[in-house]
Amino acid sequence: MMETNDNISVLISEERLNERIKEMGEEISRAYKGRELHLISILKGGVFFTCELAKRITVPVYVDFMSVSSYGSGKQTSGAVKIIKDLDESIDGMDVMVVEDIIDSGTTLSYLMDLLKQRRPASLALCTLLDKPERRLHEVKVDYTGFKVPDKFIVGYGLDYAQRYRNLPYIGVID
Ligand code: IMP
Ligand code: MG
Repeated sequence: MMETNDNISVLISEERLNERIKEMGEEISRAYKGRELHLISILKGGVFFTCELAKRITVPVYVDFMSVSSYGSGKQTSGAVKIIKDLDESIDGMDVMVVEDIIDSGTTLSYLMDLLKQRRPASLALCTLLDKPERRLHEVKVDYTGFKVPDKFIVGYGLDYAQRYRNLPYIGVID
């Protein structure tokens, strides 16, 4: 067990995560049979899930990374996001899937999906490990969801609290 200063209870165990990610990998492999898939992992949180998911996908996979942040501070943002790190390669004509850790207000992803659409991929899908639907402010079409979670502060499996706890092998809630 990792040493923590906060009280963290397990919401989704490592075993349940492994099972679900395997299922998602199988579903995605069936959907993209005969094609190649260009995964866009959203830094930093999405990276942990991307690695596990990619290992369960049986069609050829490319991986690229993007880092984005919301403009302004506080909970209500303008809806625009700033690109901290853009993709290394063009997605023109590719089957693209964005891989994210969690969709909360939807602000980041609704903006990002619109932006990526303008780069003319052959197809564009969104896959998230977690979804907090109660919190949605901006509509986003999610193609693959691992788990719906309650409106609590979640950590682990890429998700941080002040940059900590990303390396927890389970999904936890800070009490
Ligand atoms: P959105 O633009 O509000 O959907 O924000 C999504 C981003 O907020 C995610 O990529 C996370 O980095 C962060 N986030 C949202 N909810 C949580 C949480 O419960 N724990 C940790 N990070 C979160
Ligand atoms: Mg994130």
